Amino acid sequence: MKTIGLKKATINDKALVVDFDYRLDKVEHVELKREEKIKKAILNEECFMILADKRAVGFVIFDYRFFDLGWIELIVIEEKYRGKGIGVQAIDLICTQCKTDKVFTSTNSSNMQMQKALSKAGFSFAGKINGLDDGDPELFYYRKINTEKADN
Ligand SMILES: CC(C)(COP(=O)(O)OP(=O)(O)OC[C@H]1O[C@@H](n2cnc3c(N)ncnc32)[C@H](O)[C@@H]1OP(=O)(O)O)[C@@H](O)C(=O)NCCC(=O)NCCS
Repeated sequence: MKTIGLKKATINDKALVVDFDYRLDKVEHVELKREEKIKKAILNEECFMILADKRAVGFVIFDYRFFDLGWIELIVIEEKYRGKGIGVQAIDLICTQCKTDKVFTSTNSSNMQMQKALSKAGFSFAGKINGLDDGDPELFYYRKINTEKADN
């Protein structure tokens, strides 16, 4: 597919991001107060719209809260655009703008899509944490970044 890009989300994008997240998991969206978290991420300039030929097809929240290293908090692609390579390209793009020499992220063991996308985007397995979601361990991944490129 097409040209994939990232654009820093503004408060005008909030409704769309909230909608992507709500449609992903309505219960978590409400219970985990995700609307508030999304608003905060936008105001902190940590939320990016994923664009495919300039159309918003998802978002990624990226910050430095994990041991002061680049951290992909959440990436969501709208369902009908999944499995077309957009996730891998978006992950790659977020890595190119990372200011530290490593990017970390995590996903559930059950999330094969995300694990495949991370592996295709050059991430390595870092370790497993039990006890977060019952019966579905959290798998951590990281990718080393060419900092010379990131500093420019
Ligand atoms: C995880 C996610 C961001 C990946 O983005 P994507 O655009 O679907 O991923 P890509 O198309 O780049 O594909 C990456 C790999 O996943 C595979 N994949 C896509 N859909 C899949 C599915 N339903 N089951 C298993 N693998 C799948 C792709 O085939 C590809 O591997 P391949 O090239 O070897 O076939 C996206 O699927 C998504 O938004 N999922 C729901 C939200 C989520 O789970 N976010 C991650 C948690 S933070």
